[in-house]
Amino acid sequence: MDKFLWGSATSAYQCEGGWLEGNKGLSNWDDFCHSEKNNVNPVTGDVACDHYHRYEEDIRLLSEGGQNAYRFSICWTRILANSQSTVNQEGIAYYNRILDTCEKYGVEPLVTLYHYDMPVDLFKNGGWENRETVTAFIRYAKVCFENFGGRVKYWATINEPNYETYCCYGRGNYPPNVRDLSRRWKAMYHLLLASAGAIVEYRKLNYEGTIGLVSDSYSIESLVDNEQYREAMHNADLFYNRCVNDVAVYGEFPADFIEKLALDYDLSYMKKEDEEIFKKGTVDYLGINAYDRTLVKPYTSGETCMIANNTGDGVTKNSTIIKNWFELDEDPNTQKNAWGCELYPKSVYNLLLDLKDKYPNTPIIITENGLGYYDELVDGKVNDQYRIEFLNGFIDWIRQAQKEGCDVRGYFVWSTMDLYSWINGYKKRYGLVYIDYENDNKRIPKASYYWYKKKIEEELKNDE
Ligand code: BG6
Repeated sequence: MDKFLWGSATSAYQCEGGWLEGNKGLSNWDDFCHSEKNNVNPVTGDVACDHYHRYEEDIRLLSEGGQNAYRFSICWTRILANSQSTVNQEGIAYYNRILDTCEKYGVEPLVTLYHYDMPVDLFKNGGWENRETVTAFIRYAKVCFENFGGRVKYWATINEPNYETYCCYGRGNYPPNVRDLSRRWKAMYHLLLASAGAIVEYRKLNYEGTIGLVSDSYSIESLVDNEQYREAMHNADLFYNRCVNDVAVYGEFPADFIEKLALDYDLSYMKKEDEEIFKKGTVDYLGINAYDRTLVKPYTSGETCMIANNTGDGVTKNSTIIKNWFELDEDPNTQKNAWGCELYPKSVYNLLLDLKDKYPNTPIIITENGLGYYDELVDGKVNDQYRIEFLNGFIDWIRQAQKEGCDVRGYFVWSTMDLYSWINGYKKRYGLVYIDYENDNKRIPKASYYWYKKKIEEELKNDE
Protein backbone atom coordinates (compact mmCIF):
# COMPACT_ATOMS: atom_id res chain seq x y z
CA MET A 1 0.00 0.00 0.00
CA ASP A 2 1.82 3.10 -1.13
CA LYS A 3 -0.13 6.10 -2.40
CA PHE A 4 -3.02 7.54 -0.38
CA LEU A 5 -6.32 6.53 -1.99
CA TRP A 6 -8.68 9.42 -2.59
CA GLY A 7 -11.87 8.08 -4.04
CA SER A 8 -15.55 7.36 -3.78
CA ALA A 9 -17.62 4.21 -3.54
CA THR A 10 -20.67 2.34 -4.85
CA SER A 11 -22.11 -1.16 -4.59
CA ALA A 12 -23.46 -3.34 -7.39
CA TYR A 13 -27.14 -3.66 -6.49
CA GLN A 14 -27.38 0.02 -5.63
CA CYS A 15 -26.10 1.35 -8.96
CA GLU A 16 -25.83 -1.21 -11.74
CA GLY A 17 -29.39 -1.95 -12.82
CA GLY A 18 -29.39 -4.35 -15.80
CA TRP A 19 -31.09 -6.82 -13.50
CA LEU A 20 -31.96 -9.27 -16.27
CA GLU A 21 -28.97 -8.62 -18.52
CA GLY A 22 -25.75 -10.48 -19.14
CA ASN A 23 -27.09 -13.85 -17.89
CA LYS A 24 -27.28 -12.49 -14.39
CA GLY A 25 -29.10 -14.61 -11.82
CA LEU A 26 -31.59 -13.21 -9.32
CA SER A 27 -30.47 -12.07 -5.90
CA ASN A 28 -32.13 -11.70 -2.49
CA TRP A 29 -32.55 -7.97 -3.20
CA ASP A 30 -34.19 -8.57 -6.60
CA ASP A 31 -36.57 -10.87 -4.78
CA PHE A 32 -37.23 -8.46 -1.90
CA CYS A 33 -37.72 -5.36 -4.04
CA HIS A 34 -40.21 -7.14 -6.26
CA SER A 35 -42.36 -8.06 -3.29
CA GLU A 36 -44.51 -5.29 -1.85
CA LYS A 37 -44.72 -6.91 1.56
CA ASN A 38 -41.86 -5.32 3.48
CA ASN A 39 -40.65 -2.76 1.00
CA VAL A 40 -41.30 0.56 2.79
CA ASN A 41 -40.34 2.65 -0.25
CA PRO A 42 -41.66 0.38 -2.99
CA VAL A 43 -38.96 0.79 -5.63
CA THR A 44 -36.43 -1.64 -7.12
CA GLY A 45 -32.82 -1.67 -8.32
CA ASP A 46 -33.88 -2.96 -11.75
CA VAL A 47 -32.39 0.09 -13.48
CA ALA A 48 -30.90 1.99 -10.51
CA CYS A 49 -28.58 4.60 -12.06
CA ASP A 50 -27.81 2.35 -15.02
CA HIS A 51 -24.15 1.99 -14.14
CA TYR A 52 -24.29 -1.35 -15.98
CA HIS A 53 -24.32 0.63 -19.21
CA ARG A 54 -22.85 3.93 -18.09
CA TYR A 55 -19.85 2.80 -16.05
CA GLU A 56 -17.43 4.48 -18.44
CA GLU A 57 -19.04 7.89 -17.96
CA ASP A 58 -19.08 7.38 -14.18
CA ILE A 59 -15.44 6.35 -13.93
CA ARG A 60 -14.37 9.14 -16.30
CA LEU A 61 -16.22 11.70 -14.15
CA LEU A 62 -14.65 10.26 -11.01
CA SER A 63 -11.19 10.61 -12.51
CA GLU A 64 -11.88 14.12 -13.85
CA GLY A 65 -12.95 14.97 -10.31
CA GLY A 66 -9.36 14.38 -9.18
CA GLN A 67 -10.07 11.03 -7.52
CA ASN A 68 -7.50 8.26 -7.89
CA ALA A 69 -9.54 5.30 -6.59
CA TYR A 70 -12.94 3.70 -7.11
CA ARG A 71 -14.51 1.26 -4.66
CA PHE A 72 -17.20 -0.93 -6.21
CA SER A 73 -18.64 -4.36 -5.52
CA ILE A 74 -19.03 -7.39 -7.74
CA CYS A 75 -22.54 -8.70 -8.14
CA TRP A 76 -22.28 -12.36 -7.09
CA THR A 77 -25.13 -13.42 -9.42
CA ARG A 78 -23.40 -11.96 -12.48
CA ILE A 79 -20.48 -14.32 -11.83
CA LEU A 80 -22.43 -17.34 -10.58
CA ALA A 81 -26.13 -17.03 -11.36
CA ASN A 82 -27.03 -19.42 -8.54
CA SER A 83 -25.33 -21.81 -6.16
CA GLN A 84 -25.16 -24.61 -8.75
CA SER A 85 -24.10 -22.63 -11.84
CA THR A 86 -20.88 -22.60 -13.76
CA VAL A 87 -18.97 -19.36 -14.19
CA ASN A 88 -20.81 -16.82 -16.34
CA GLN A 89 -18.29 -15.44 -18.83
CA GLU A 90 -20.48 -12.42 -19.58
CA GLY A 91 -20.18 -11.37 -15.94
CA ILE A 92 -16.42 -11.85 -16.01
CA ALA A 93 -16.24 -9.77 -19.21
CA TYR A 94 -18.34 -7.00 -17.64
CA TYR A 95 -16.04 -6.58 -14.63
CA ASN A 96 -13.01 -6.78 -16.90
CA ARG A 97 -14.47 -3.84 -18.81
CA ILE A 98 -14.85 -1.92 -15.55
CA LEU A 99 -11.24 -2.72 -14.64
CA ASP A 100 -10.09 -1.71 -18.16
CA THR A 101 -11.88 1.59 -17.67
CA CYS A 102 -10.22 2.14 -14.29
CA GLU A 103 -6.86 1.50 -15.95
CA LYS A 104 -7.68 3.84 -18.84
CA TYR A 105 -8.42 6.71 -16.42
CA GLY A 106 -5.64 5.96 -13.95
CA VAL A 107 -8.00 4.90 -11.18
CA GLU A 108 -7.09 2.27 -8.56
CA PRO A 109 -9.94 -0.21 -8.03
CA LEU A 110 -10.86 -1.40 -4.54
CA VAL A 111 -13.17 -4.36 -5.09
CA THR A 112 -15.71 -5.64 -2.57
CA LEU A 113 -16.81 -9.23 -3.10
CA TYR A 114 -20.04 -9.09 -1.13
CA HIS A 115 -22.16 -6.02 -0.50
CA TYR A 116 -25.51 -7.44 0.71
CA ASP A 117 -26.57 -9.28 -2.50
CA MET A 118 -26.42 -13.06 -2.83
CA PRO A 119 -28.02 -15.69 -5.12
CA VAL A 120 -31.68 -16.05 -4.23
CA ASP A 121 -31.49 -19.84 -3.93
CA LEU A 122 -28.86 -19.52 -1.20
CA PHE A 123 -30.96 -16.86 0.47
CA LYS A 124 -34.07 -19.05 0.44
CA ASN A 125 -32.00 -21.84 1.89
CA GLY A 126 -31.24 -19.80 5.00
CA GLY A 127 -28.74 -17.28 3.62
CA TRP A 128 -25.99 -16.53 6.14
CA GLU A 129 -27.73 -18.60 8.80
CA ASN A 130 -26.81 -21.64 6.75
CA ARG A 131 -23.19 -22.80 6.84
CA GLU A 132 -23.45 -23.89 3.19
CA THR A 133 -23.45 -20.21 2.22
CA VAL A 134 -19.92 -19.97 3.63
CA THR A 135 -18.71 -22.68 1.26
CA ALA A 136 -20.59 -21.10 -1.65
CA PHE A 137 -19.05 -17.70 -0.91
CA ILE A 138 -15.51 -19.07 -0.77
CA ARG A 139 -16.05 -20.74 -4.15
CA TYR A 140 -17.33 -17.46 -5.60
CA ALA A 141 -14.43 -15.50 -4.06
CA LYS A 142 -11.95 -17.91 -5.60
CA VAL A 143 -13.49 -17.43 -9.05
CA CYS A 144 -13.07 -13.65 -8.61
CA PHE A 145 -9.47 -13.95 -7.41
CA GLU A 146 -8.57 -16.26 -10.30
CA ASN A 147 -10.13 -13.99 -12.88
CA PHE A 148 -9.24 -10.55 -11.54
CA GLY A 149 -6.43 -11.21 -9.04
CA GLY A 150 -3.76 -10.16 -11.51
CA ARG A 151 -5.23 -6.68 -11.85
CA VAL A 152 -6.90 -5.88 -8.51
CA LYS A 153 -4.53 -4.82 -5.73
CA TYR A 154 -7.14 -3.98 -3.09
CA TRP A 155 -9.80 -6.50 -2.11
CA ALA A 156 -12.52 -6.33 0.51
CA THR A 157 -14.28 -9.58 1.37
CA ILE A 158 -17.52 -8.52 3.03
CA ASN A 159 -19.24 -5.18 3.49
CA GLU A 160 -20.47 -4.50 7.04
CA PRO A 161 -21.11 -7.79 8.85
CA ASN A 162 -22.51 -5.70 11.70
CA TYR A 163 -24.87 -3.35 9.89
CA GLU A 164 -26.17 -5.92 7.45
CA THR A 165 -27.12 -8.42 10.14
CA TYR A 166 -28.43 -5.60 12.36
CA CYS A 167 -30.87 -4.66 9.62
CA CYS A 168 -31.69 -8.20 8.43
CA TYR A 169 -32.22 -9.78 11.86
CA GLY A 170 -32.45 -6.90 14.37
CA ARG A 171 -34.38 -4.05 12.86
CA GLY A 172 -35.94 -6.47 10.42
CA ASN A 173 -36.04 -3.91 7.62
CA TYR A 174 -33.72 -5.79 5.18
CA PRO A 175 -34.54 -9.23 3.84
CA PRO A 176 -35.33 -11.71 5.43
CA ASN A 177 -37.04 -9.12 7.72
CA VAL A 178 -36.52 -10.96 10.96
CA ARG A 179 -36.37 -9.57 14.51
CA ASP A 180 -34.41 -12.13 16.43
CA LEU A 181 -30.90 -11.45 17.66
CA SER A 182 -30.04 -15.13 18.08
CA ARG A 183 -30.40 -15.47 14.30
CA ARG A 184 -28.40 -12.30 13.86
CA TRP A 185 -25.39 -13.66 15.74
CA LYS A 186 -25.47 -16.88 13.79
CA ALA A 187 -25.57 -15.06 10.44
CA MET A 188 -22.75 -12.74 11.54
CA TYR A 189 -20.61 -15.68 12.62
CA HIS A 190 -20.96 -17.24 9.18
CA LEU A 191 -20.23 -13.93 7.42
CA LEU A 192 -17.00 -13.62 9.39
CA LEU A 193 -16.09 -17.22 8.73
CA ALA A 194 -16.72 -16.68 5.01
CA SER A 195 -14.48 -13.62 5.06
CA ALA A 196 -11.66 -15.47 6.84
CA GLY A 197 -12.05 -18.47 4.53
CA ALA A 198 -11.82 -16.24 1.45
CA ILE A 199 -8.69 -14.54 2.82
CA VAL A 200 -7.06 -17.94 3.36
CA GLU A 201 -7.86 -18.85 -0.30
CA TYR A 202 -6.53 -15.52 -1.55
CA ARG A 203 -3.20 -16.00 0.20
CA LYS A 204 -2.82 -19.48 -1.30
CA LEU A 205 -3.00 -17.97 -4.77
CA ASN A 206 -0.02 -15.69 -4.15
CA TYR A 207 -1.23 -12.60 -5.95
CA GLU A 208 0.41 -9.32 -5.23
CA GLY A 209 -2.25 -7.42 -3.37
CA THR A 210 -3.87 -6.63 -0.09
CA ILE A 211 -7.11 -7.94 1.35
CA GLY A 212 -9.35 -6.71 4.13
CA LEU A 213 -12.90 -6.56 5.39
CA VAL A 214 -15.18 -3.52 5.51
CA SER A 215 -16.59 -2.83 8.95
CA ASP A 216 -19.07 -0.11 9.85
CA SER A 217 -17.58 1.09 13.11
CA TYR A 218 -18.64 3.68 15.62
CA SER A 219 -17.11 5.95 18.18
CA ILE A 220 -19.04 4.83 21.24
CA GLU A 221 -19.81 7.80 23.47
CA SER A 222 -22.13 8.84 26.30
CA LEU A 223 -23.44 12.07 27.76
CA VAL A 224 -22.74 10.99 31.34
CA ASP A 225 -19.56 9.62 32.86
CA ASN A 226 -20.19 7.06 35.57
CA GLU A 227 -19.68 3.34 36.04
CA GLN A 228 -23.06 2.29 34.64
CA TYR A 229 -22.61 4.40 31.55
CA ARG A 230 -19.10 3.04 31.04
CA GLU A 231 -20.42 -0.50 31.26
CA ALA A 232 -23.13 0.30 28.71
CA MET A 233 -20.44 1.75 26.42
CA HIS A 234 -18.34 -1.37 26.78
CA ASN A 235 -21.37 -3.53 25.88
CA ALA A 236 -22.18 -1.38 22.86
CA ASP A 237 -18.57 -1.58 21.70
CA LEU A 238 -18.79 -5.39 21.82
CA PHE A 239 -22.21 -5.37 20.13
CA TYR A 240 -21.36 -3.10 17.18
CA ASN A 241 -17.58 -2.96 16.78
CA ARG A 242 -15.48 -5.60 18.45
CA CYS A 243 -17.67 -8.56 17.46
CA VAL A 244 -16.37 -7.87 13.92
CA ASN A 245 -13.08 -6.02 14.28
CA ASP A 246 -11.41 -8.32 16.85
CA VAL A 247 -12.19 -11.30 14.63
CA ALA A 248 -10.97 -9.57 11.48
CA VAL A 249 -7.72 -8.36 13.06
CA TYR A 250 -6.86 -10.98 15.71
CA GLY A 251 -8.83 -13.97 14.48
CA GLU A 252 -10.85 -14.40 17.67
CA PHE A 253 -13.99 -13.11 19.34
CA PRO A 254 -13.60 -11.13 22.58
CA ALA A 255 -13.99 -13.60 25.47
CA ASP A 256 -16.50 -11.44 27.37
CA PHE A 257 -18.61 -11.12 24.21
CA ILE A 258 -18.89 -14.89 23.89
CA GLU A 259 -19.65 -15.18 27.61
CA LYS A 260 -22.46 -12.67 27.23
CA LEU A 261 -23.93 -14.39 24.18
CA ALA A 262 -23.75 -17.79 25.86
CA LEU A 263 -26.05 -16.52 28.64
CA ASP A 264 -28.92 -16.25 26.19
CA TYR A 265 -28.23 -18.32 23.08
CA ASP A 266 -27.26 -21.72 21.80
CA LEU A 267 -23.84 -21.24 20.16
CA SER A 268 -23.32 -24.78 18.91
CA TYR A 269 -22.81 -23.46 15.36
CA MET A 270 -19.40 -22.13 16.52
CA LYS A 271 -17.17 -25.09 15.66
CA LYS A 272 -13.76 -25.85 17.10
CA GLU A 273 -12.28 -26.38 13.61
CA ASP A 274 -13.26 -22.82 12.62
CA GLU A 275 -10.76 -21.36 15.07
CA GLU A 276 -7.84 -22.07 12.79
CA ILE A 277 -9.59 -20.45 9.80
CA PHE A 278 -10.26 -17.30 11.83
CA LYS A 279 -6.63 -17.22 12.96
CA LYS A 280 -5.24 -17.66 9.46
CA GLY A 281 -7.76 -15.44 7.72
CA THR A 282 -6.95 -12.14 9.41
CA VAL A 283 -6.93 -8.92 7.39
CA ASP A 284 -4.10 -6.88 5.87
CA TYR A 285 -6.12 -3.71 6.46
CA LEU A 286 -9.42 -2.78 8.05
CA GLY A 287 -11.92 -0.93 5.88
CA ILE A 288 -13.97 1.42 8.03
CA ASN A 289 -17.34 2.87 7.07
CA ALA A 290 -17.74 5.94 9.25
CA TYR A 291 -20.92 7.98 9.29
CA ASP A 292 -21.80 8.89 12.86
CA ARG A 293 -21.15 8.14 16.51
CA THR A 294 -23.14 5.84 18.76
CA LEU A 295 -24.45 7.52 21.88
CA VAL A 296 -25.16 5.05 24.65
CA LYS A 297 -26.94 4.91 28.01
CA PRO A 298 -27.50 2.02 30.44
CA TYR A 299 -30.27 -0.51 29.88
CA THR A 300 -33.18 0.20 32.19
CA SER A 301 -36.22 -1.84 31.18
CA GLY A 302 -38.23 -3.22 28.27
CA GLU A 303 -37.75 -5.78 25.55
CA THR A 304 -35.10 -5.59 22.83
CA CYS A 305 -36.24 -3.41 19.95
CA MET A 306 -34.56 -1.52 17.14
CA ILE A 307 -36.73 1.01 15.40
CA ALA A 308 -35.31 2.63 12.26
CA ASN A 309 -36.29 5.85 10.57
CA ASN A 310 -36.46 4.82 6.92
CA THR A 311 -38.89 7.48 5.82
CA GLY A 312 -36.86 10.62 6.50
CA ASP A 313 -40.16 12.31 7.35
CA GLY A 314 -38.71 14.17 10.31
CA VAL A 315 -41.28 12.50 12.59
CA THR A 316 -40.20 8.84 12.90
CA LYS A 317 -37.47 8.47 15.50
CA ASN A 318 -34.69 5.90 15.64
CA SER A 319 -34.81 4.10 18.95
CA THR A 320 -32.90 1.11 20.25
CA ILE A 321 -33.03 -1.05 23.35
CA ILE A 322 -30.78 -4.09 23.63
CA LYS A 323 -32.06 -5.88 26.70
CA ASN A 324 -29.40 -6.32 29.38
CA TRP A 325 -26.74 -4.68 27.16
CA PHE A 326 -27.49 -0.95 26.60
CA GLU A 327 -29.89 1.57 25.13
CA LEU A 328 -29.16 4.26 22.57
CA ASP A 329 -29.29 7.86 23.72
CA GLU A 330 -29.86 11.09 21.84
CA ASP A 331 -28.14 14.44 22.15
CA PRO A 332 -30.77 17.14 21.63
CA ASN A 333 -28.05 19.67 20.92
CA THR A 334 -26.51 18.18 17.79
CA GLN A 335 -27.69 18.69 14.23
CA LYS A 336 -29.14 15.65 12.45
CA ASN A 337 -30.25 14.85 8.92
CA ALA A 338 -33.84 13.83 8.17
CA TRP A 339 -33.04 10.18 8.94
CA GLY A 340 -31.58 11.01 12.36
CA CYS A 341 -27.87 10.73 11.49
CA GLU A 342 -25.86 13.17 13.61
CA LEU A 343 -23.67 15.62 11.73
CA TYR A 344 -20.66 15.10 13.95
CA PRO A 345 -17.37 14.89 12.03
CA LYS A 346 -15.22 14.63 15.14
CA SER A 347 -16.62 11.12 15.65
CA VAL A 348 -14.14 9.83 13.06
CA TYR A 349 -11.19 11.22 15.02
CA ASN A 350 -12.43 9.60 18.24
CA LEU A 351 -12.97 6.35 16.37
CA LEU A 352 -9.54 6.34 14.72
CA LEU A 353 -7.76 6.93 18.02
CA ASP A 354 -9.74 4.08 19.55
CA LEU A 355 -8.84 1.78 16.64
CA LYS A 356 -5.17 2.72 16.97
CA ASP A 357 -5.34 1.71 20.60
CA LYS A 358 -7.02 -1.61 19.94
CA TYR A 359 -5.36 -2.57 16.64
CA PRO A 360 -2.07 -0.64 16.54
CA ASN A 361 -0.55 -2.61 13.67
CA THR A 362 -3.48 -2.63 11.27
CA PRO A 363 -3.72 0.04 8.56
CA ILE A 364 -7.12 1.65 8.09
CA ILE A 365 -8.88 2.68 4.90
CA ILE A 366 -12.00 4.79 5.32
CA THR A 367 -14.07 2.88 2.78
CA GLU A 368 -17.25 4.99 3.19
CA ASN A 369 -18.20 8.36 4.59
CA GLY A 370 -21.09 10.47 3.41
CA LEU A 371 -24.26 12.39 4.10
CA GLY A 372 -27.75 11.38 2.98
CA TYR A 373 -29.91 14.34 2.00
CA TYR A 374 -32.94 15.38 -0.03
CA ASP A 375 -30.81 17.20 -2.63
CA GLU A 376 -32.54 19.55 -5.02
CA LEU A 377 -31.71 20.35 -8.60
CA VAL A 378 -32.18 24.09 -9.06
CA ASP A 379 -31.48 25.68 -12.46
CA GLY A 380 -29.47 22.61 -13.46
CA LYS A 381 -27.26 22.70 -10.34
CA VAL A 382 -27.08 21.10 -6.91
CA ASN A 383 -25.57 23.37 -4.30
CA ASP A 384 -24.97 20.86 -1.48
CA GLN A 385 -23.04 23.08 0.94
CA TYR A 386 -24.26 20.95 3.90
CA ARG A 387 -22.47 17.93 2.40
CA ILE A 388 -19.31 19.92 1.75
CA GLU A 389 -19.22 21.05 5.35
CA PHE A 390 -19.80 17.51 6.61
CA LEU A 391 -17.17 15.84 4.39
CA ASN A 392 -14.65 18.63 4.93
CA GLY A 393 -15.01 18.17 8.68
CA PHE A 394 -14.44 14.43 8.39
CA ILE A 395 -11.34 14.80 6.23
CA ASP A 396 -9.83 17.41 8.56
CA TRP A 397 -10.41 15.19 11.59
CA ILE A 398 -8.90 12.20 9.74
CA ARG A 399 -5.81 14.30 8.96
CA GLN A 400 -5.59 15.26 12.64
CA ALA A 401 -5.77 11.59 13.65
CA GLN A 402 -2.99 10.82 11.15
CA LYS A 403 -0.84 13.49 12.77
CA GLU A 404 -1.39 11.71 16.07
CA GLY A 405 -0.12 8.44 14.63
CA CYS A 406 -3.19 6.75 13.12
CA ASP A 407 -2.21 4.75 10.06
CA VAL A 408 -4.89 5.76 7.54
CA ARG A 409 -4.22 4.81 3.91
CA GLY A 410 -7.28 5.99 2.04
CA TYR A 411 -10.62 7.80 2.08
CA PHE A 412 -13.73 7.08 0.00
CA VAL A 413 -16.81 9.28 -0.13
CA TRP A 414 -20.12 7.45 -0.20
CA SER A 415 -21.18 7.69 -2.95
CA THR A 416 -19.66 8.26 -6.40
CA MET A 417 -23.09 9.25 -7.72
CA ASP A 418 -26.62 9.08 -6.32
CA LEU A 419 -27.92 5.55 -6.10
CA TYR A 420 -30.49 3.25 -4.55
CA SER A 421 -30.32 3.76 -0.79
CA TRP A 422 -31.64 0.28 0.09
CA ILE A 423 -34.83 0.45 2.13
CA ASN A 424 -34.67 4.28 2.01
CA GLY A 425 -35.25 4.29 -1.75
CA TYR A 426 -33.88 6.87 -4.18
CA LYS A 427 -34.81 10.16 -2.56
CA LYS A 428 -32.10 9.87 0.05
CA ARG A 429 -29.09 10.95 -1.97
CA TYR A 430 -25.41 10.68 -1.10
CA GLY A 431 -23.67 11.19 -4.45
CA LEU A 432 -20.99 13.63 -5.53
CA VAL A 433 -22.82 13.46 -8.85
CA TYR A 434 -26.57 13.97 -9.11
CA ILE A 435 -28.60 11.45 -11.08
CA ASP A 436 -31.62 12.95 -12.79
CA TYR A 437 -33.78 9.85 -12.65
CA GLU A 438 -36.58 11.62 -14.52
CA ASN A 439 -34.35 12.58 -17.43
CA ASP A 440 -32.59 9.53 -18.74
CA ASN A 441 -30.41 9.28 -15.63
CA LYS A 442 -28.41 12.31 -16.66
CA ARG A 443 -25.23 12.82 -14.61
CA ILE A 444 -24.84 16.30 -13.06
CA PRO A 445 -21.80 16.90 -10.81
CA LYS A 446 -22.83 18.63 -7.57
CA ALA A 447 -20.99 21.47 -5.82
CA SER A 448 -19.46 18.80 -3.55
CA TYR A 449 -17.89 17.09 -6.58
CA TYR A 450 -15.96 20.26 -7.46
CA TRP A 451 -15.13 20.95 -3.83
CA TYR A 452 -13.75 17.38 -3.41
CA LYS A 453 -11.53 17.84 -6.46
CA LYS A 454 -9.99 20.97 -4.94
CA LYS A 455 -9.69 19.40 -1.52
CA ILE A 456 -7.77 16.43 -2.96
CA GLU A 457 -5.44 18.78 -4.85
CA GLU A 458 -4.72 20.71 -1.66
CA GLU A 459 -4.18 17.57 0.38
CA LEU A 460 -1.81 16.13 -2.23
CA LYS A 461 0.16 19.39 -2.20
CA ASN A 462 0.36 19.28 1.62
CA ASP A 463 1.74 15.73 1.37
CA GLU A 464 4.55 16.72 -1.01
C1 BG6 B 1 -23.57 1.73 4.35
C2 BG6 B 1 -23.67 0.79 3.19
O1 BG6 B 1 -24.11 1.12 5.46
O2 BG6 B 1 -24.24 2.93 4.32
C3 BG6 B 1 -24.17 1.42 1.90
O3 BG6 B 1 -22.48 0.10 2.96
C4 BG6 B 1 -25.31 2.36 2.24
O4 BG6 B 1 -24.55 0.41 1.02
C5 BG6 B 1 -24.75 3.48 3.11
O5 BG6 B 1 -26.00 2.84 1.14
C6 BG6 B 1 -25.78 4.50 3.49
O6 BG6 B 1 -26.86 3.90 4.13
P1 BG6 B 1 -28.35 4.14 3.63
O7 BG6 B 1 -29.17 3.12 4.30
O8 BG6 B 1 -28.68 5.52 4.04
O9 BG6 B 1 -28.32 3.98 2.14
